[in-house]
Amino acid sequence: MFKKLAIASALCVALSPAASLAAGGGEQHIEDFQFSFEGPFGTYDQNQLQRGLQIYTEVCSACHGLQYVPIRTLADPGGPGLPEEQVRAYAAQTFEVFDPELDDFRPAKETDHFPANTAAGAPDLSLMAKARAGFHGPAGTGLAQLFKGMGGAEYIASLLTEYTGEEKTEAGVTLYENKAFPGGWISMAPPLFDEQVEFLDGHPNTVHHMAEDVSAFLMWTAEPKMMARKQAGFVGVLFLTILSVMLYLTNKRIWAPVKAAAKSKD
Ligand code: HEC
Repeated sequence: MFKKLAIASALCVALSPAASLAAGGGEQHIEDFQFSFEGPFGTYDQNQLQRGLQIYTEVCSACHGLQYVPIRTLADPGGPGLPEEQVRAYAAQTFEVFDPELDDFRPAKETDHFPANTAAGAPDLSLMAKARAGFHGPAGTGLAQLFKGMGGAEYIASLLTEYTGEEKTEAGVTLYENKAFPGGWISMAPPLFDEQVEFLDGHPNTVHHMAEDVSAFLMWTAEPKMMARKQAGFVGVLFLTILSVMLYLTNKRIWAPVKAAAKSKD
């Protein structure tokens, strides 16, 4: 049984890269980025989330909203972890929101959500990292996800780095060739270019680095409690392991006299 399982899973691993291409319908190419939050003990990298927030604010927010994300969560532990004053200043200086009570726009407060943005017809990014999967294989069964994860963050990072530079116009819309996008042509112009965003700590700002950082940030917006979930899971498994050992020993002890009696009868 175990041998068969082992062979089956080895086959899945071996087949997954080829099959994920097949399932993507054509040439969809997803790079397997190494994120700090992968694996059962992975955690978000606070500095990376802060850089991702900066990239979202300076670049992506021009077209994309984050309407399901409360601004105050930027101060939450396990997230970007900004000091509360900084969150307040960020909200007030960066966004304006419509207040129905004032019947006018006012600077955002930390208690508001990030604004929605539908002007460019771009989808909201709050949950995008959970709505998309990077890995579909083998043959569309999704088995590769057991080993690599869903790959939502990998999909976004690949989307930002896999533009080929080709463009075409179809029915008055300019489309850009992108090897990660299903179908191969996306209406979003390449949003990132090298050295576009300057980081205070002088972190590298190539397209590749920035794509990784902003994707990690979008993973956090989609799953802000990932670390708490993993921790609870770990405590649960630990508890069940200890409980199993104790039950086994208790069981042995309870039945020991009976077994001893049975043995002496033989
Ligand atoms: C100039 C406007 C603009 C900017 C800036 C922009 N986007 Fe987009 N984005 C779009 C549009 C329009 C679409 C819809 C594309 C389509 O479906 O063809 C889109 C789609 C997307 C998608 C969804 C792709 C899918 O699978 O449906 C993701 C993810 C995305 N953008 C991420 C980003 C990130 C991250 C940034 C910042 C680095 C960014 N975008 C900056 C306009 C923009």
